[in-house]
Amino acid sequence: TATPPWWRDAVIYQVYPRSFLDTDGDGVGDLRGVARRIPYLSRLGVDTLWLSPFFSSPMADFGYDVRDHTAVDPLFGDLADFDGLVAAAHAHGLRVLIDYVPNHTSGEHPWFRDARTGPLSPRRDWYVWRDPAPGGGPPNNWITLFGESAWTLDAESGQYYLHSFLSSMPDLNWRNPAVREAMFDVARFWLDRGVDGFRVDCAPLIAKDPALRDNPAAGAGTVAHHRPMGGYDSQLHLHDQAHPDLHAMYREFRAVLDAYGDGPAARIALGEIHAYDWQAWSRYFGRELDEIHLPINFGLLRTPWEPGAIRDLVREVLGALPAGAVPTWVTGTHDDPRVASRVGRDQAANAMLLLLTLPGAAILYNGDELGLPDAHITPEDIRDPWGLRTPELSRDPARSPMPWSDGPGAGFTRAGVRPWLPVARPPGGSAAAQEDDPGSLLSLTRAVLALRRAHPALGPGAIEFADAPEGVLAYTRTGPPGGGSLLITLNLTDGPLHIGKTVAGRPWERHLSTAPEAGATAASRGTDAHGPDPDV
Ligand code: NOJ
Repeated sequence: TATPPWWRDAVIYQVYPRSFLDTDGDGVGDLRGVARRIPYLSRLGVDTLWLSPFFSSPMADFGYDVRDHTAVDPLFGDLADFDGLVAAAHAHGLRVLIDYVPNHTSGEHPWFRDARTGPLSPRRDWYVWRDPAPGGGPPNNWITLFGESAWTLDAESGQYYLHSFLSSMPDLNWRNPAVREAMFDVARFWLDRGVDGFRVDCAPLIAKDPALRDNPAAGAGTVAHHRPMGGYDSQLHLHDQAHPDLHAMYREFRAVLDAYGDGPAARIALGEIHAYDWQAWSRYFGRELDEIHLPINFGLLRTPWEPGAIRDLVREVLGALPAGAVPTWVTGTHDDPRVASRVGRDQAANAMLLLLTLPGAAILYNGDELGLPDAHITPEDIRDPWGLRTPELSRDPARSPMPWSDGPGAGFTRAGVRPWLPVARPPGGSAAAQEDDPGSLLSLTRAVLALRRAHPALGPGAIEFADAPEGVLAYTRTGPPGGGSLLITLNLTDGPLHIGKTVAGRPWERHLSTAPEAGATAASRGTDAHGPDPDV
């Protein structure tokens, strides 16, 4: 059988550069720090890195407010550091994806500074400007995540500009072909430097209703759907995002990527799609699978930690998947509470096993392999602009630095330097402590990734759910004919679970377990992946 394209079952490790490793002693991680940890990542067994933004930025939204798309912010290093990082990753067989932020720029970007000089600026139309509504006030009722108007008045010209997020992050106008060409040039700049693709920020936002019609009034319980990150619900016909014209835009973007080759040379797009209507989500692949290679499905972050709910989600997502497309799974991001805090420390290993044994590509957020919990952030320590406005929305707890060791600065920064956010301690210890502990989550993650590489059943093949006792999620993964199968049993209860010598009438053999010390037939609190099943 031909090997599938590299990205179809990729394990993508998200690096949040600010919090990874600080090599210059300013309390903030940097690109050299990421490069220094390439051996760790390669030993872990992931195959692709995705770096959150490291571009020149005033950091109002920690780099998602880009001031210069083709410059590295001095906080993180310079282009030579970036090239060094890509070379080191490639030398270890790791691919590199970087963030690509199409919907907005920083207000300090030269494009916006130019646009802001007035209606006669050649770049005026690169952003979205409108006169006030007839009676005065913003042109329509669109709001930001914070529930405020998405329009800010530019006093000089008397016009409003649109911003889906902070007012210092004006939205670009992707309907203008010059904007698309300029943004495609940005992509080419990084592709020419060797990146293997992009994680496309807020992918559904780039096309809005050209007539800028009001959104339907938010009824009780629907307000979340009116927020850019709250999810897009096709039933509501929102006008501030997901206009069907975006498909043509992503086909153009895809052509830019495809020009760099296919197969092992393929450069890919991983799309941030907060759609929870799986039909709506599936459209981002494109009718001919000619748009976004891997639209992220965030379902696991929004699903109760309960076997029935997880099984239904997996079935629905796979059911909505276009023929020939592969799904993507994620349990943690820099925007959501940490998985270890969401599901509880005892279930973090099960969450990892689930993430890495579902069919398709998986995204692993840095620190989750250590069971890193949310950091405790005091009000004075809040840095996230969302948290500064609405403490409940703060994303700081999930963005705390990597605990590499128990030494000073947690091995993240130098002794005596205050890290930009407080460091949280995983119950299983720092990376150094977990390194030599066969029972650690780090060791388990390595073992699952090794099994995933070695066992054909964990490729993009079939999944079938099996009957299981209450509180247990069980499924079989089956590879190509002759490849055998694996049964995964996840004990989501907090009690012990006894697995007999046979399951569904078939004998089994243990490959790995979250409770490695447990004997094969002994009562186990853990979760197992086992096979090959001689009968299959
Ligand atoms: C999604 C990113 O993940 C988030 O961190 C950012 O604030 C918004 N997009 C705006 O770019």
